[in-house]
Amino acid sequence: MDRFLIDGGRPLAGTISTSGAKNAVLPVLAASLLTSEPLLVPGAPILADVRTMLEVLGSLGSTSSVAEDGSVEVQSAEHTSNVAGWEYVRKMRGSVCVLGPLLARTGRAEVSLPGGCVFGVRPIDVHLKGLEALGATIRIEHGFIVAESPAGGLRGGEVFLGTPFGSSVTGTMNVMMAATTARGRTIIQSAACEPEVVDLGECLIAMGAKISGLGSPVLEIEGVEGLTGTTHRVVPDRIEAGTFVLAGAIAGARVRVEGCRPDHLAALLDRLWQAGMPFEHGADWIETQSCGLGHRPRPTDVTTQPYPGFPTDLQAQWMALMCLADGVSVVTERIYPDRYMHMAELARMGARIRRQGGTAIVEGVDRLSSAPVTASDLRASAALVLAGLVAQGQTEIHRVYHIDRGYQEIEKKLGALGAQIERTRE
Ligand code: EPU
Repeated sequence: MDRFLIDGGRPLAGTISTSGAKNAVLPVLAASLLTSEPLLVPGAPILADVRTMLEVLGSLGSTSSVAEDGSVEVQSAEHTSNVAGWEYVRKMRGSVCVLGPLLARTGRAEVSLPGGCVFGVRPIDVHLKGLEALGATIRIEHGFIVAESPAGGLRGGEVFLGTPFGSSVTGTMNVMMAATTARGRTIIQSAACEPEVVDLGECLIAMGAKISGLGSPVLEIEGVEGLTGTTHRVVPDRIEAGTFVLAGAIAGARVRVEGCRPDHLAALLDRLWQAGMPFEHGADWIETQSCGLGHRPRPTDVTTQPYPGFPTDLQAQWMALMCLADGVSVVTERIYPDRYMHMAELARMGARIRRQGGTAIVEGVDRLSSAPVTASDLRASAALVLAGLVAQGQTEIHRVYHIDRGYQEIEKKLGALGAQIERTRE
């Protein structure tokens, strides 16, 4: 296992580019199951999770190749298996995205149940409800979801995909993918509006699907006979970009994040403005810097919400910034009320945070100090990296494989801005 050694206190300056979105490329690759023709994804992010998705697809009979620039070609000409096993889903919950397209294409899908994860129970009931609305029969057997299409294949239906926490991102994706080739019209109410859902919808449309309402809570899908291959470049990763923007806010002399979509980060920019952080942006870039010597961010509350609200996937990184605010701020997690594993690790670096139910109260301190800390999940690790950039001394982050799941060579990207991050074997 690798770890990071970060020498804190080096001001970051320069330009950093945004990779394609992890949470867009995973379902797009899964969508290749809907056609026998090749799907090309130019410039896909080179991430552990992308490799895992290609392994899952390989286990189902798909073939794939990855070029040096990350471009991925995947083809599901024939299926040798209908089973996505525990070994993949355990590593990456996003593997569940194969459920809808596999069922639509072959009439039967067996996908291991994802189970819980470090930030809570994470049910998948709405995925199943949505597929049932298309006529599928579903049972849970030996830890697997076993889904079967009726004779004659899936048919259009109407379904409400709301959850107590908004909608379900991958649930919407699964049902949308399955509905593309179902007979007749499907209406999804309370669909997720995240840019990654829109991106997948655009890829499906390029493959021949008929979908309207993308980006709104009501999706209408008119089933078509079959889909074709296509070439689809995924949307920039708003969470990676947001993490770099926050790196600039925490430790920046001046950091420019290029190739991003500031319109996908409106909630973050609103909070940065409220916190008094200097930033500028254009159509595809954002520049940030820290408050400057003797100044600290204003304490600024956030509540995570479905898009376009503040993303849960930036909550931990925001908390790292608020650890250094000039006062007390409140962070409320409304998507995953238990997603606070980073709190205890930040506390080891001198942060003062206490939790009350689904809320964390962060009392800003004027400096953080280095400590050995452990990454517990992807975004928690990103928060620890941000804290390490400004902590006094050398921060040691263990289990960085979590960060490799979703950030492409983060130590090199931040290193190009002047950060001192060394990757070593434990
Ligand atoms: N929920 C239900 N029932 C369901 C599905 C979800 O109650 O059937 C609840 C969840 O427990 C949660 C909320 O609805 O409280 C939202 O969950 P959602 O299904 O939208 O999450 P997801 O699709 O499993 C994706 C991202 C996550 C991101 C969430 C929320 C992928 C592969 N994963 O997960 O990304 O946090 O949406 O935006 O797209 C990450 O990248 O680090 C990550 C965890």
